[in-house]
Amino acid sequence: MQTFHSASGKKIEVEDVALFSTPIIVTKFNDHEKYEIESFDKVDRRPEFWDSSVNTSFPGMEKDDPYISQETLDEIRNSITEQVKDVFEIYNMPRDIVMYNFWYNAYYEGQGQELHNHLGEDNHNPFWCGVYFAKNCFNSQFKFRRSDYSLRTQQPFDFHQTRLVEYYRDVWPSGIPDGYICLFPPHLLHKVTVGKENRDKMRLSFSFNIHLGVPKSPR
Ligand SMILES: [Fe+2]
Repeated sequence: MQTFHSASGKKIEVEDVALFSTPIIVTKFNDHEKYEIESFDKVDRRPEFWDSSVNTSFPGMEKDDPYISQETLDEIRNSITEQVKDVFEIYNMPRDIVMYNFWYNAYYEGQGQELHNHLGEDNHNPFWCGVYFAKNCFNSQFKFRRSDYSLRTQQPFDFHQTRLVEYYRDVWPSGIPDGYICLFPPHLLHKVTVGKENRDKMRLSFSFNIHLGVPKSPR
């Protein structure tokens, strides 16, 4: 409980409780300094069903990527997997995980990713997902967006100046810097917008989906 005093001097004890919050987990990637990946040219390489221009290796199943060596990709993938296991252990979550999708997204000015989540067809969903912010990932480019609009069913009021403003926000613009990994549950909507800050600087991130144990049908 916090103690406040009303305008008339009355003592008021009060607290608000964040019910049913959504967790994301942010961890500093211990091996970030080990990988110096050279920038490459602006390229539009995306699967048919993605709307925005981006150079992506999704779903990451090719063995001869044209921009980053397989050896480097494998090392980063393994290194992230080991760190995620350690993080899960801290949270008393299972260490028995498999990273079954691992891909990079490279962006320059004007490229990005439309709003999406990581839910699979027919409920073949990951356990958790993540993004490693590797290079030139600037504030507010990566945003999570609320999908539950229950609070919109209240009579509208100007919540911006209230103490409850955080509960009403629709968007969480990430300030997570290069060198960090963000883990999130697969239903959470997110998007990436890249502007002139990346005109000459390639933004690079790695994304992944995690399964519990050995997946029945690797994709
Ligand atoms: Fe994503």
